[in-house]
Amino acid sequence: TRPDNHVIVLFGATGDLAKRKLLPGLFHLARAGLLPDGYRIVGSSTARSALSDDAFRKHAHDAVATFGRSQPSGPEWESFEESLSFGAAQPEDPGPLLAAVRSAEDSLGGQARRLFHLAVPPSAFGSMIGMLGDTDLAENAKVIVEKPFGTDLASARALNKTIHAVFDESRVFRIDHFLGKESVDNILALRFANGLFEPIWNRDHISHVQIDVPETLGLEGRAGFYERTGAFRDMIVTHLIQVLGIVAMEPPVSLGAQALRDEKAKVFEALRPIEPAHVVRGQYEGYRDEPGVTPDSQTETFAALRLEVDNWRWAGVPFHLRSGKNLAQHREVITLGLREPPLRMFRTDLPHHEKNTGNKIVIDFGDPGWIAACFLAKEPGPTMRLAPATMTFRYADSFCQKHELEGYERLLLDAMLGDQSLFTRSDEIEHIWAASTPLLENPPPPQPYAAGSWGPDPAVSDLIAPHQWHLPDAG
Ligand code: BG6
Repeated sequence: TRPDNHVIVLFGATGDLAKRKLLPGLFHLARAGLLPDGYRIVGSSTARSALSDDAFRKHAHDAVATFGRSQPSGPEWESFEESLSFGAAQPEDPGPLLAAVRSAEDSLGGQARRLFHLAVPPSAFGSMIGMLGDTDLAENAKVIVEKPFGTDLASARALNKTIHAVFDESRVFRIDHFLGKESVDNILALRFANGLFEPIWNRDHISHVQIDVPETLGLEGRAGFYERTGAFRDMIVTHLIQVLGIVAMEPPVSLGAQALRDEKAKVFEALRPIEPAHVVRGQYEGYRDEPGVTPDSQTETFAALRLEVDNWRWAGVPFHLRSGKNLAQHREVITLGLREPPLRMFRTDLPHHEKNTGNKIVIDFGDPGWIAACFLAKEPGPTMRLAPATMTFRYADSFCQKHELEGYERLLLDAMLGDQSLFTRSDEIEHIWAASTPLLENPPPPQPYAAGSWGPDPAVSDLIAPHQWHLPDAG
């Protein structure tokens, strides 16, 4: 099904996210025939110097040429380009935006849904929402709000209050693009469509879980955003904990938005308050010399932590989360480490039979991602000698079609369709911030680490002992 006709308004249209993901993503959706029959995209920003429609089209062209999967040319580009216009939006002067939205609606015959995407820093959400409420723009509209949603429990509550004064929850789409990743969505299928995995998906069989997203990328010119955000708010409370929610949730009664999010919210409610002693914050050497970073910055570019989910299924199973900039590899990997079998019948002095070659389920949720079950097998030969072996699922082996949509593309489409399943709900976010409070009130100082390393030493070993970080070879 294709969505109803839409006017999509991109606030922050000249910002980093619009350039890298949103404009290329919308063009990809258009090329894939997934946008509505009638659509218009109105770029907006609060910058004093408003863009002309033509300048915005040129901006979109360059963004798609640099970051898109297909080049901005041919009739598909021409019709996409025609749908673009620009309307500046100062909270005190919404006139140009109102005019641009009305003219876009008129060109669709007056029959279109409105979708506002707030790709702006959290500090700007409040005034934008206020402006939508004060004008008639919010009428019948949906709103996509970017992460991080607030900076702590109090600000998230205040923001929810501000939003709910204008939009009821059914029209709020808090976006976390990791939930739109094909291989994250597949975790639901892996767990709940099969009899193979779910029976061992609990504390009786699993000794520890890791959600590991090291990045090789550095700041990418985003010092302004990053200085105020840091790795914990940019990646952990958002993407990694959302993935934890999918890994740890109970089977929902259906795949509907309410049932899925009810179960995820229960996991977040069960998160034990994060003890600062269970967190290592790091800052790569040279970060303070980056343009836009203050010389005594305490912002962390790395965070690793041990979380506990205090519920029946997971009591006593540590969840190790790690993410950071300028690390040794770029990976997106979940590992479920299985408990040792009750009896050791095999010689353990053999070089291969190291603890870290024990049974594991590994889910690589990069693009395209893969899933592996790691176990020990007998090496062929006259002696009983064990060696690590792997059974692997790769998309290309089972499916001929490639991943059609990236995270943002899938979620923009879902928002147009009005499907909130893969968007976060106010109570989920508030539970996560509540669990984060002890850490935010008392953050350990960031420890330096060398760019290209695995982060500060304590995060590599002490934090997660007796376990260790498992990073399998890229599939
Ligand atoms: C964004 C963060 O939300 O996710 C970035 O702000 C991070 O700092 C990015 O690099 C990672 O997402 P992906 O999908 O590009 O791996």
